[in-house]
Amino acid sequence: MRGDYLILAGVLLFVIVTTYYVVITGISPMPSSRTSRRKINEILNLAGVCAVVDLGAGWGDLAFSIAKAMPESETMAYELSPFPWAVMKVRNGLFGPRNVTVRRADFRKVSLAGTDAVVCYLYSELLEKLRHKLEAELKPGTLVVSNVFDIPGWTPEAVHKLYDSQCPQVYVYRVPDRTAAAVAAGVGLAG
Ligand SMILES: C[S@@+](CC[C@H](N)C(=O)[O-])C[C@H]1O[C@@H](n2cnc3c(N)ncnc32)[C@H](O)[C@@H]1O
Repeated sequence: MRGDYLILAGVLLFVIVTTYYVVITGISPMPSSRTSRRKINEILNLAGVCAVVDLGAGWGDLAFSIAKAMPESETMAYELSPFPWAVMKVRNGLFGPRNVTVRRADFRKVSLAGTDAVVCYLYSELLEKLRHKLEAELKPGTLVVSNVFDIPGWTPEAVHKLYDSQCPQVYVYRVPDRTAAAVAAGVGLAG
């Protein structure tokens, strides 16, 4: 009987805490589908990137599949929600791969300097805000792969349509060179 209450308390805690983080982040820890993971790995592999960051890594499905597909790369997995983060940490500790670092952090507050490629499965309103951070901290030309949702204000380099109802497309972007654009606009005004 006592055990039943403990299980019930654990389930309640999981539901309350996870729901709280869904409300504050605006998104659930839903993993990318197998089809979109495969496509994202293909894109990253072709680009030959070394340092990958998953912004909002959920249970780790995408981050782990990238790390397995590219054993020479290093993937940083940031997740704020405690239960998905804890599961990711345990999964990583038990089964690897070793080229993934799991961090519980708000990705808006970490530095992205030195990153070769960013992957994410977020939503457009959040991506629009995140765009300014990406422009400020990533080198122009850095690869940004967004599962399902577009990044308002940026023009994709490619949009890969997938036969997958959960993840019907993957957007591929390169961080634009805002300085060059501003200089060109300034020159245009001056001229
Ligand atoms: C849809 S899931 C994607 C999971 C994983 N990237 C994948 O594709 O399998 C989005 C995750 O982003 C996390 N998230 C949202 N905002 C965040 C933030 N500011 N900092 C860290 N994680 C965040 C959510 O908690 C959620 O687990």
